[in-house]
Amino acid sequence: MKGIKIFSPATVANLACGFDVIGLALDFPKDEIFLYKSNNPGIRIRKIHGTSLPNDPKKNVAFVALQFFLKKYQQEKEKKIGFEIELIKNIHPGSGIGSSAASAAGVVYGANVLLGYPFNTMQLIRFAMEGERIASGTAHADNVAPAIMGGLTLVRSYQPLDITKLHVPNELWISIIHPQIEIKTSDAREILKQKILMTDAIRQWGNIGALVAGLYQENYRLISRSLEDFIVEPIRAILIPAFYELKIRCKEIGALGGGISGSGPSVFMLSKGNHTAKKVTEMMNRVYSTLQIDYKTYTSSINQKGVKWSKIL
Ligand code: HSE
Repeated sequence: MKGIKIFSPATVANLACGFDVIGLALDFPKDEIFLYKSNNPGIRIRKIHGTSLPNDPKKNVAFVALQFFLKKYQQEKEKKIGFEIELIKNIHPGSGIGSSAASAAGVVYGANVLLGYPFNTMQLIRFAMEGERIASGTAHADNVAPAIMGGLTLVRSYQPLDITKLHVPNELWISIIHPQIEIKTSDAREILKQKILMTDAIRQWGNIGALVAGLYQENYRLISRSLEDFIVEPIRAILIPAFYELKIRCKEIGALGGGISGSGPSVFMLSKGNHTAKKVTEMMNRVYSTLQIDYKTYTSSINQKGVKWSKIL
C-alpha cells in the first residue's frame, strides 16, 4: 500500500472541569488527509486546502508530529523512507475544536497504518503531542488522545503517559458555536494562574470525579451538575463575547451544561438527545445573531472510533 485517505475528527478538550485531562471526539466536523509513503527520505507537504497554514515545515503541526514518528521509526528499523501529505482542513485553525490535533493525530495514525502498525496507541499520542507543542507551546494530550482513541478520554498522568477511555452515554450530544475571532492557545494558557486555591481545587476534583461517575451511570443530572469549572473558565471567559449569556440561555432550554471548548473561542454545550442538542444549537445562533461577529455552529454526536482511514492506492 502506498497511500491512504484519513478522516480525523474535531475534538473538545477540558469538558469544563477537566483542564488538560478530559476530551472527546466529534462526528462532525472532520479533516481529510491524504498520506503517501515515498522512497525519498523526508516529509513533504504537497498541498493544504481550506486555510492558510505555516509554510515553514518546522511550524506545521502535521510535519512536526510525523517527523517525530519518522525519527523513531528510522532509529528502530534502520530504514530510510519518506511521506507526502495533502491536508483538507475542514476544522478551522484556532477554532478551539482541535484543528492542530486533527492534523497531528491524522498523519501519525495514517503513517502507522501504511508501515504495518510499528507503534502502539500511546506512542502515536506522544508523536501527535509534539505537534501540539508547536501549536500551543505545551504538549497537552486532551485533544490528540480522543482524536486517536475516539470517544471520551481521560489523561490520568502525563509522566508516564497514562490515558484511559471513559464510557460515553448513549444519548449524549454536543452543540458547538465557533465565533470567528482568533484566540491563540498559547495566549489563552499564558493568562492562567500557576497556583490555585485549595477551596477551588476541592470543588474542581469533586466535579471531575462526579462527571466520570455520571458518564458511567448515564446519569444526565449528575453530568449536568458536574459541568462547572472554577479554575480556568473565569479567566478565559472574558475573551469570548456573550459567553455567560450563551451558557444561561442554552441551559434554560434544556442543555445539561457546557463551557469553553479547549482554549476557545468555541463554546460547547452537552445535551441529552439529538432533539435537545439541535434546539441548543439554534439558541446559540439566536444569541450570536444579535452580535456583529461571524460564527459557525455544529451539532454532533460523539465519535466513538476516532481517526479512520480508507485505502486509495
Ligand atoms: N487543554 C488545552 C487548553 C486544550 O485548554 O489549553 C487546548 O485546545
